[in-house]
Amino acid sequence: MSIQTLVEQATIASSPFDTDSFNQAVMSTYARFPIALERGAGCRVWDTQGREYLDFVAGIATCTLGHAHPALVEAVTRQIQKLHHVSNLYYIPEQGELAKWIVQHSCAERVFFCNSGAEANEAAIKLVRKYAHTVLQIEKPIILTARDSFHGRTLATITATAQPKYQKNFEPLVPGFDYVPYNDIGAVEAAISELDEGDYRVAAILIEPLQGEGGVRPGDIAYFQKLRQICNETGVLLIFDEVQVGMGRSGKLWGYECLGVEPDIFTSAKGLGGGIPIGAMMCKSFCDVFQPGEHASTFGGNPFACGVALTVCETLERENILQNVQDRGEQLRDGLRAIAAKYPNHITEVRGWGLINGMELNADVQSTAPDVVKAAIDEGLLLVPAGPKVVRFVPPLIVTQAEVEQALQAVDKAMAAVTA
Ligand SMILES: Cc1ncc(COP(=O)(O)O)c(C=O)c1O
Repeated sequence: MSIQTLVEQATIASSPFDTDSFNQAVMSTYARFPIALERGAGCRVWDTQGREYLDFVAGIATCTLGHAHPALVEAVTRQIQKLHHVSNLYYIPEQGELAKWIVQHSCAERVFFCNSGAEANEAAIKLVRKYAHTVLQIEKPIILTARDSFHGRTLATITATAQPKYQKNFEPLVPGFDYVPYNDIGAVEAAISELDEGDYRVAAILIEPLQGEGGVRPGDIAYFQKLRQICNETGVLLIFDEVQVGMGRSGKLWGYECLGVEPDIFTSAKGLGGGIPIGAMMCKSFCDVFQPGEHASTFGGNPFACGVALTVCETLERENILQNVQDRGEQLRDGLRAIAAKYPNHITEVRGWGLINGMELNADVQSTAPDVVKAAIDEGLLLVPAGPKVVRFVPPLIVTQAEVEQALQAVDKAMAAVTA
C-alpha cells in the first residue's frame, strides 16, 4: 500500500479548518494530515485550533534555524526593505557574498543559484552533459544514479530518481540515465564497463551521501572512497546531491565530510535558506563549462533569497550550531535505541547522522511509518515518514536537549499506542 493511501487512512481528531474548500481549490498532489499550521516559534508550531506541536519535520529538513528565529526575521525585514529582486542582467552583491561564503566553507570553486533542489540537480545534469560533449567527447553521456534515490520531481530528476513509483505514468522519461544499487561498488564498476559501448559512456555518477527519502540510509565510507578513486581513474564526474543532508544537518556542514571524499559537483537547497526558497549547484572550476546564456533562472540568486541564506549560513557558524547538531543527534539516537529495545518486535533499526535520523519498523508487523506519525501527532509531535517503514526525525538544527527529551517521550507513547 502506498504512503499516500496510508496517510489518507490515518484518522486523527477532526479540525475546524475547512479542508473541503481547501481541497476543492488546491490540486491534490499531497496526502495531508488534517491539521492546519498557522504559527511557529523555535522548534514549535501551532495549528488553527491553537494546539501546540513540537516540530521534528522542519518543513522536511528545511527550517535550519527553526521558526521566527530573530536573525531570520531581521534578515528578511532588512532585505525586503532594501532590495528584494533584480535581474541577473546586473551584479547582485548578496549573490556574490553568499557564493563566496559557500566557496570558503566547502570544496566548491563556483556556484550557480536557482530556487529548489530539483532545479539545482537539473543544473548539475546540464553541466555534466555539456562537459561530456565538449571535454570528454562523449556523444551519448550516461549518468548513473542509485536505486531508492530521490533527486526531485522535474522530468529529468524523476528519471534520475531510481524509484518506479515516482516515474509511473510520466513516461517517456529522459534518456541518458542508468541505475545501480546503493553502497555496491561492484555494480558501479560493472555499469561503467558495460555502458562503454558505441557512442554511450558513463559521464557522471549522481548520488546522495545519505539517502533521505529512500529511508535515511547513510553512505558507506569504504564505498564512497572507492567511488572517488574510480571517478579519478576514469574521468567520470562525481556529483553529490546534498539537498537534504547538506547545510549542517549531518553534523558537518556538508554530508561529504562524513565520508571523507570530495565531489566534483554538489547541490544544495532545503536548509540553505532556512525555509526561504533557494537552490544552488556548486562545482570545481575544471568542470565549470557554462557560458553566458546557456543556463539561467529568473529568481535564481536574487537579493532576497541570497541575503537571507547568507544570514542562515553566518548564524550556523556564529552560534556553533554544528556542535548542537552532533550532540542532539547522539542524544536522539541513544533515546530512540532505548525505545527500540522496549519494542524489539516492532523496531528493527535506528540510524542516521547528526539531525537526520530514521527509525525502521519491522517489515513483518502491520504498523507503518504513517501509523507512528499519526500517533505522534496525537502526542503533540510532528514526524515524517521516509518510505512505508521508516519514521524520519529532522528537527530544526537549533533543537534543545529538553526538546529532544520531550520528543522521545512522545515517541515512546506513540509506539505504545500503535503496538497496543
Ligand atoms: C536528496 C534530495 N534531492 C532533491 C530533492 C528535491 O528538492 P526540491 O523539493 O526542493 O525540488 C529532495 C527533496 O526532498 C531531496 O531530498
